[in-house]
Amino acid sequence: METPREIFLKDYKLPDYYFHTVNLKFSLGEDKTIICSEITVFPREEGTASPLVLDGQDLKLLSIKVNGEELKGEDFHLDSRHLTVLSPPRSNKFTLEIVTEIYPQNNTSLEGLYKSSGNFCTQCEAEGFRKITFYQDRPDIMAIYTCRIEADKTLYPVLLSNGNLIEKGDLEGGRHYAIWEDPFKKPCYLFALVAGQLESRDDTFITRSGRKVSLRIWTPVQDLPKTVHAMYSLKAAMKWDEDVFGLEYDLDLFNIVAVPDFNMGAMENKSLNIFNSKLVLASPETATDADYAAILGVIGHEYFHNWTGNRVTCRDWFQLSLKEGLTVFRDQEFSSDMGSRTVKRIADVSKLRTYQFPQDAGPMSHPVRPHSYIKMDNFYTVTVYEKGAEVVRMYKTLLGSHGFRKGMDLYFKRHDGQAVTCEDFFAAMCDANGANLSNFLLWYSQAGTPLFKVTSSYDAESKAYSLKFSQEVPPTPGQPVKEPMFIPVALGLLNSKGKDIPLSSVYHEGMLQSIEKNGEPVYTTVLQVKKKEEEFVFSDISERPIPSLLRGYSAPVRLESDLTDSDLFFLLAHDSDEFNRWEAGQVLARKLMLSLVADYQQNKSLVLNPKFVHGIKSILCDLSLDKEFIAKAITLPGEGEIMDMMEVADPDAVHAVRSFIRKQLASELKAELLSTVQNNRSSESYVFNHPNMARRALKNVALAYLASLEDTEFTELALHEYKSATNLTEQFAALAAIAQNPGKTREEVLGDFYSKWQDDFLVVNKWFALQAMSDIPGNVENVGKLLKHPAFDMRNPNKVYSLIGGFCGSPVNFHAKDGSGYKFMGEIVVQLDKINPRVASRMVSAFSRWRRYDQTRQSLAKAQLEMIMSTNGLSENVFEIASKSLA
Ligand code: ARG
Ligand code: ZN
Repeated sequence: METPREIFLKDYKLPDYYFHTVNLKFSLGEDKTIICSEITVFPREEGTASPLVLDGQDLKLLSIKVNGEELKGEDFHLDSRHLTVLSPPRSNKFTLEIVTEIYPQNNTSLEGLYKSSGNFCTQCEAEGFRKITFYQDRPDIMAIYTCRIEADKTLYPVLLSNGNLIEKGDLEGGRHYAIWEDPFKKPCYLFALVAGQLESRDDTFITRSGRKVSLRIWTPVQDLPKTVHAMYSLKAAMKWDEDVFGLEYDLDLFNIVAVPDFNMGAMENKSLNIFNSKLVLASPETATDADYAAILGVIGHEYFHNWTGNRVTCRDWFQLSLKEGLTVFRDQEFSSDMGSRTVKRIADVSKLRTYQFPQDAGPMSHPVRPHSYIKMDNFYTVTVYEKGAEVVRMYKTLLGSHGFRKGMDLYFKRHDGQAVTCEDFFAAMCDANGANLSNFLLWYSQAGTPLFKVTSSYDAESKAYSLKFSQEVPPTPGQPVKEPMFIPVALGLLNSKGKDIPLSSVYHEGMLQSIEKNGEPVYTTVLQVKKKEEEFVFSDISERPIPSLLRGYSAPVRLESDLTDSDLFFLLAHDSDEFNRWEAGQVLARKLMLSLVADYQQNKSLVLNPKFVHGIKSILCDLSLDKEFIAKAITLPGEGEIMDMMEVADPDAVHAVRSFIRKQLASELKAELLSTVQNNRSSESYVFNHPNMARRALKNVALAYLASLEDTEFTELALHEYKSATNLTEQFAALAAIAQNPGKTREEVLGDFYSKWQDDFLVVNKWFALQAMSDIPGNVENVGKLLKHPAFDMRNPNKVYSLIGGFCGSPVNFHAKDGSGYKFMGEIVVQLDKINPRVASRMVSAFSRWRRYDQTRQSLAKAQLEMIMSTNGLSENVFEIASKSLA
């Protein structure tokens, strides 16, 4: 195998040729598909002598013509990755016609044109279009497309592509055709085609300027009843983007197609979004509240891309966060506005901590805008997406809602129809506000989670309260030394009654800055910390305050403060910033868990601090609180989060401690938890709205606590909830509560659940995941058996993510000290890589932080990585992750 080549941002060059129009003709067939592509090309500089280099992979070239003339062998060069036209005409415009043959029916990578359940569909982002035809496959090549699709009419009655349908008709031999024209120029990664047996749910949306848009959601006929929520979500998203950003849809048709085989969540192809069916299909009986929420968020996300991604796209793939960070931010805000802002923020911050922090601290650490990649597919990461969204959020925190909107407006005004960079976004934000955000751009270029320390002091005599900040950005691969970041610190100060103190002014670098706004007091201010060390002194503070720092989590940093436990309990009880109430509880829980882990490792008996029990109890019993907030606040930080804070991660100790605290809380708060379950049962049929979801969430958390006690009374209770549930949210939660504990009941209920749902593959995936994630000792063997289950299929990414990805979600089993988990995963990665490299590389990532563990585990995990590296014909995807993990 040739060593894969690394691509660098610093090597970006403008293309020598641009494409103006692209005319595609697909002839879809069972054993082969033929694609004719006709492109008008013009040079960037007239008279250029540069060759025209086209990307292409796994294509059979049938013919190539320039200006109607067939090229001869000496006129072009073809290798496994490129087709080069050696000396194109030196005119200001020429046409290129290429005919290729491909075999979508054999395409298991699910990139380019492939088949899913008998239907044709495409996935072109990032570099899948080159598996369809030879092209300059880069996002700064934007062109106007027409697409003619021809196929068998019985097998593929529905033929879809981007834009408007302009013609359709029948052909000889039982075939038919459709011609689609997209009036907006676009990069090829937004091209899409679908052909198959599908039916649509139809609706309309009238935009605020009066455009009537047809909305269609396409699925196999039997799934149509499950598209009600997706349609609701789409309409809500369209309305929200108009209300909040003034952005309207720009065509008369918007299609969504749900397919069961899809590598990621969904894809924002212009006017033809293609979705993993798990993010479209929902009914109360077959989808949980989490699924409903995910569908709302992702339907929103893909729709929002129409402006942030499609109308304004990325110059090159290093700029991916320009569209993804921004669009994730937009979908987070949308979901917040549709539900509870605090709860959404808590969920998003938890996700960042659970997945992005570890990535940022490991061998795959990369900036929000990476400097290099081997395989772009490996950079659709939580760093580019979720940390990228935090970066966008910081603009809003710094500029305010109104300022942020002005920045967005200027961004579209300047760049509509263009392929741009993160600097362009930054410039729009600054210029629209006359703001100087100095070194803010470091958020795009420096990897690593900043460690942010705060110490406070109060001087009663001068009534001065000082906060000293210091920051350190840890070294990451390729970046040993870092500069200080620009950290927006939203903060408030609480008095001894727990009320916010009005803030009037603050001393900073010898200057007194006023905080008041139009004479009105301010309770939360945003400090701009830009240096390695910096002090701010608040004046006129009449008693020692308790600081509420980083309100709403105003910057993606690890905060270390000198707050005492009693300060934290105080914040938990009183902070007016609800997010920080939750946060105070989490900080307390993390401290507690770490100290118990130390006790466990020293064989001391574990004792739970009664103050902690009391804190949890008062949250649980506080009727004034939002129920989903309570559910989140009484949930302990995940095992990964705690391992992340240890010198040497110890999965067994962390698991033992977390289980101990859970059981202890359950046994001390039995009565309260029981009444929580009883008082929060469903009385009506399923409704997707915040109060109902919050109620179910709280009930389910309480039930899981109780069932952890392995007490017959509570097992019976869980069984009762399982049997009487009228929706999957409660039924599945009851199943999960029972399945915590090994034994006969567990097996029976799992069996019952499977027989109920065996015909619904999305529900069966949950059943796989639940068993795969189980902490039951020696679970690797069970997962091995499930691999052979008739419902499992290695070619379907959802099934792989559920069963194999799920298994990595149990630290005790994946990191089993005998190496059985590592061996299992190593073998799977090798097998999977031959089928679908992209999915395989996601799985191999489970190994990437192997150095965090003890010597024994290190050598066992390393051996698997080395085994993977030595495999013949390894994909670039897996090569990149495995080699960087070993480096
Ligand atoms: N742009 C898509 C989204 O975030 C993700 C692209 C996934 N890429 C892929 N090769 N499946 O909405
Ligand atoms: Zn996206």
